[in-house]
Amino acid sequence: MTNKHPPSIIAIDGPAASGKSTLGLKLAKALDYLFFDTGVMYRAVTWIALDHDIDVHDEAKVTALAEATPIDVAPASKSDGRVCDVLVAGKDITWETRLPIVDANVSVVSAHPGVRAALSKQQRRIGQRGKVVMVGRDIGTVILPEADLKIYLDATAAERAKRRFNEMIARGANVNYEDVLAKVLERDRIDSTRHVAPLKTAADAVVINSNDLDAEQVFEKVFALCK
Ligand code: DC
Repeated sequence: MTNKHPPSIIAIDGPAASGKSTLGLKLAKALDYLFFDTGVMYRAVTWIALDHDIDVHDEAKVTALAEATPIDVAPASKSDGRVCDVLVAGKDITWETRLPIVDANVSVVSAHPGVRAALSKQQRRIGQRGKVVMVGRDIGTVILPEADLKIYLDATAAERAKRRFNEMIARGANVNYEDVLAKVLERDRIDSTRHVAPLKTAADAVVINSNDLDAEQVFEKVFALCK
């Protein structure tokens, strides 16, 4: 990491539901940078595979899909709670990428080395332009190791499951906390044990545990590092 202020390339990594997107979006707005949540690309490929009845475990087929599908991530065009638009061949699939069936399958899809190679290239190209807040699992370690500021945002699985559960209840879903916790733990396991680009803390990342901090407090901490 260099000591540029404000940092031009900001990488935010961490496990599912640690608050990365909320932090990234606030930071990008405050700095007038591009916000790019790379998880939506893995979600888009997962949704398209499911929609085409492709077995998500079939690496060759899912990789071919990732290579052939132009995925666009654009600033939110509607104020319906979305943080960005996800477009595939001009079709808006933003809310499809948030379906529980996508949550349940995206870790398998994102563990395929071929899928990662296809999407990483695109992520790196966008990130290297600078003035960007990029969010994911491997941004500081693999995609943009040259990032000027790296944040690893963490929280216990119980706390992350509680937040996810509250969000789902607020959206009117009929869910049970134990199930949400089991899913968070399963995604943690797959994301951190895969062979290619597993979730881990970059040696030069600033680690923030958000268990006892609200979104505003996390933002203030990171914003202070940008000044
Ligand atoms: O952050 P999210 O929940 O939208 O991420 C969806 C999945 O994509 C998650 O299982 C991890 C994976 N992912 C990844 O492997 N690398 C990234 N840079 C971003 C997400």
